[in-house]
Amino acid sequence: MAVTVLGIETSCDETAGAVVSTTGDAAKPWRARSNVIASQVAIHREWGGVVPEIASRQHVRDICGVVERALADAGTSWDGIDAIAVTQGPGLVGSLLVGVAFAKAAAAALDKPIVAVHHLAGHIESIFLEHGAIPLPAAILVVSGGHTSLYLVPEPGMYRLIGRTRDDAAGEAYDKVAKLVGLGYPGGPAIDRMAKLGRDDAVALPRPKFTHADRNPPPPDLTTGSFPPAFQHIADFSFSGLKTAVVRHLAERGVKVATGLHVPTDAGPMDQQEVADLCASFQRVVVESLLDRTFEAARWLGARSIGIAGGVSANSRLRKDALERGEHAGLPVFVPPLSLSTDNAAMIAAAGLRRLERGESSTLDFNAEATLAISSR
Ligand code: KG4
Ligand code: ZN
Repeated sequence: MAVTVLGIETSCDETAGAVVSTTGDAAKPWRARSNVIASQVAIHREWGGVVPEIASRQHVRDICGVVERALADAGTSWDGIDAIAVTQGPGLVGSLLVGVAFAKAAAAALDKPIVAVHHLAGHIESIFLEHGAIPLPAAILVVSGGHTSLYLVPEPGMYRLIGRTRDDAAGEAYDKVAKLVGLGYPGGPAIDRMAKLGRDDAVALPRPKFTHADRNPPPPDLTTGSFPPAFQHIADFSFSGLKTAVVRHLAERGVKVATGLHVPTDAGPMDQQEVADLCASFQRVVVESLLDRTFEAARWLGARSIGIAGGVSANSRLRKDALERGEHAGLPVFVPPLSLSTDNAAMIAAAGLRRLERGESSTLDFNAEATLAISSR
């Protein structure tokens, strides 16, 4: 009998609902039957970024319609739902609360199980939702507006954090740099588009460097998840220095840099080609540093595949370069389709199914959590 889960995601500025069912096919065990997203981007663009109070109020307006639509698109009704999965955190707590309260009310009214899901477990499972059973262990990079973290997945549903950004997330760097050069919010897609028109070696930007105490640390113990300190130098990321270098470059070019919410940057002496060159150069450094670390960590960990998920995995250069490198290294690389890259509820339903398959569910007393560690089992 197929198991059908309703997923709900409201951690940031997208109100999302989706229905995912089991298929019974071991190679591709889950199928998204609907994936509905009400984006608030147009509302927050006016402010240059997500305004938490506006976001939570908009979630309240949208959640009922989004869920009704998700059920209708899947050709089902509440009777066809076996369990409800909802993002518990991390994220904006006011936004998360809307989804959590809705999901708890529905679960209580229907007397169906509820599963609290970690947002990043959702991003990781987006890869399994799309590609089914990929070779494990897999090194999975989750790269979004709020996170840049590398996980090892030794077996389905087990997530070991092996590296993360020490400062800004990659998507955050995209958003900040886009604002600096007057490209607006959200910055990722805008820089991606501009970069296609520019030369990626036009502006010399620094790469994050860590002191490598030991370039060849001993292999890790994957059963305990204990990693020697030297390994953190291989697997950690950093993007704030790159953003500072862009600010310095703009200052040298005589560009008036405005960092306030409402004030657009006056690109001044820079013409469109120069902005495109800067975007291409910035994007190259971000993509290379993400992929250098991911492939090095994968090699060291003996991973049999690589996955890249989260909003920044929609980036055209990251996708292309990752697939090319994977071919070169003989490591299959898996990325979700664009509809599952940025925040969505199908990935939350998938992560919920994963927990249900492991015999786990939640009781109604869990709360929304702005910060939340991923559980390793
Ligand atoms: O996963 P996501 O939707 O939300 C978070 O959990 O943060 O990711 C949003 C982030 C934003 O920073 C956005 O600028 C970035 O993903 N993004 C991109 C692209 N599309 C979205 N970054 C680079 N290139 C893109 N094409
Ligand atoms: Zn996300």
